[in-house]
This record gives sequence, C-alpha cells and structure tokens, in this order.
Amino acid sequence: MELPITLIGFMGSGKSTIGKQIAHQKNIEYIDLDKYIHKSTGKSITSIFENEGEEQFREIESRCLREVLAMPNHVISLGGGTPCFFDNLEMIKTLSTSVYLQVSAEGLTRRLTKSTQQRPLIKGKSQEELLVYIQGELVKREKYYLQADFVIQSDQIRVEDLLSLIFS
Ligand code: S3P
Repeated sequence: MELPITLIGFMGSGKSTIGKQIAHQKNIEYIDLDKYIHKSTGKSITSIFENEGEEQFREIESRCLREVLAMPNHVISLGGGTPCFFDNLEMIKTLSTSVYLQVSAEGLTRRLTKSTQQRPLIKGKSQEELLVYIQGELVKREKYYLQADFVIQSDQIRVEDLLSLIFS
C-alpha cells in the first residue's frame, strides 16, 4: 500500500488536470478535496463561504483532509489554502507524498482571469487586482507550499517527468 500523493498549489496551478493525468497513468483513484467537501456536506464551496464564512470552511476542509489522507493509492488535489491552516501541513507531510505545483503570479493571473466568478476568494476582481492579490497571497502561502516533498514548476512539467521524480 502506498501513501496517497497530494498536489498542492495556488488556485489555477493545474492540480486537478495533473492529478487526473497521474491517476490515469498510475491506474489509481483521483480525489479533488473541494469535490469531496461538496459531497460530504451537500453544500458547494461557494455556499459554505457565503453562508457560513471562511473560518467554518477551513474547519470542514481540515476534517475532510484527514479523511482523504487515510485513503492509500490515491492522488488527491488539495484546495489552494489547504496546507496553510491548522496542522494540515503536518498531516500532509506525514500521511502523503506531497508535490507543490509552482506557477508564477503572472501565470496564475492569466489562468484565473476567466474563472473569477466561480471562486469565492477572487470573485469580482479585475485583472490588476487579481495580480496584486495573488502576489500577496503567494508571499504568505509559499512558506507552506515550499515544504512539500517535491516542488515542480507546473508551467513546464510533463506528467511523465513528475512521476519519474516522485518514483525514482
Ligand atoms: C481556496 C482554493 C479553492 C477552494 C476555496 C479556497 C484557497 O480550491 O478550496 O475556494 O484558499 O485558495 P482550488 O485551489 O482547487 O481552486
């Protein structure tokens, strides 16, 4: 039984796309933590943020993280904020092989510009506001992200390279 692989990184860093590719290539199950939260609570991420607030979302996220980390032979894409709250990073480090998909603030801004409406933390931001927000958040979040077992620049990464890095 192998520890699950967790993909960490900012919104828009390609965690779901790469996660699905890894699952396909390794013939293992893929889980998206946000979707797991939605299934487990019956509520969308947006509605939890809007009706219960971010603090409550972070509590639920941490509880669901604990549950998915107990599933061996899975690849799990985490939410952008997941490693940055409570003892989540410690759980991730102990119970999974973690990979940080590192993308520049400019790259993330380009990728996220079209999906701001669906994401509660960046809803309604203009492109300039988005860049400033991402730059500020990356400064805070990379302290956590960079502690992953592997750091990959996902602008360039091919899933085959990522797999040989993890499994070599
Ligand atoms: C968040 C990222 C989102 C989701 C929630 C909060 C964050 O996940 O968990 O909106 O704090 O960066 P994705 O990174 O999968 O978009």
